[in-house]
Amino acid sequence: MWFGVVTIFPDLVQAALEEGVVGRALRAGSIQLELYNPREYAQDSFKSVDDRPYGGGPGMVMMAEPLAECVKQARTDFESETLQTILLTPQGKTLSQNVVREFSELDGLLLIAGRYEGVDERFVENYVDSELSIGDYVLSGGELAALVVLDSVARLVSGTLNNPDSTSTESYSDGLLDFPQYTRPRRFEGLDVPEILLSGDHGKVEKWRHAQAIRRTWNRRPDLLTNRSWAKEERKIVNSLSNCGSGCDTENE
Ligand code: ADE
Repeated sequence: MWFGVVTIFPDLVQAALEEGVVGRALRAGSIQLELYNPREYAQDSFKSVDDRPYGGGPGMVMMAEPLAECVKQARTDFESETLQTILLTPQGKTLSQNVVREFSELDGLLLIAGRYEGVDERFVENYVDSELSIGDYVLSGGELAALVVLDSVARLVSGTLNNPDSTSTESYSDGLLDFPQYTRPRRFEGLDVPEILLSGDHGKVEKWRHAQAIRRTWNRRPDLLTNRSWAKEERKIVNSLSNCGSGCDTENE
């Protein structure tokens, strides 16, 4: 999959993507990355990429032209007019694992990291397919948000992870948070690994983990369970959780 990032801090983005699974995928060629710096497409001798807002007010607004030139260059490089172009902004729709999954099925994604007080709305109108936020807080720029999107999408692209199975059991993959994990040693500061995980009975382990995932989601993110329809076995777990009241806050029972 091809990724482009439009940013005035290309070194920041490049450095962050050299490590870990994404770095490995880049080196292996299962994903490709191009960076576009609006400064290189600035129209004046000062290399300006921002200016004061019309109508007054604090801060600076990113100019439409350098951003538009970056998108045009990216479309040429990707060799398609249909490149999905996403602007990272706190005004956007919130990122979710469903959106991540949809993006991972595309051939190419162009991520625009905004800065300052925003970007000229005419650029958004003419060049942006959708606006995306990574949460209800404000970052100093869209770079970290673009990295979050890139990382979460790239790891679903085939060839990125050593063990693709790990994405099918992780949090959100089936609408539940992840179950608790343990590794050696068996005893740590007086706490033991749950006996069932040592039993070697894969069926029982699976059931226990699924019950833990439901319990965690129930306690921590009940909003994820609204409108969820339960299988018969799951319903038993949910009934026991609804009967135990505040006792359900303790997850390690
Ligand atoms: N830019 C600044 N804050 C942001 C956020 N929360 N999500 C995406 N882009 C941003």
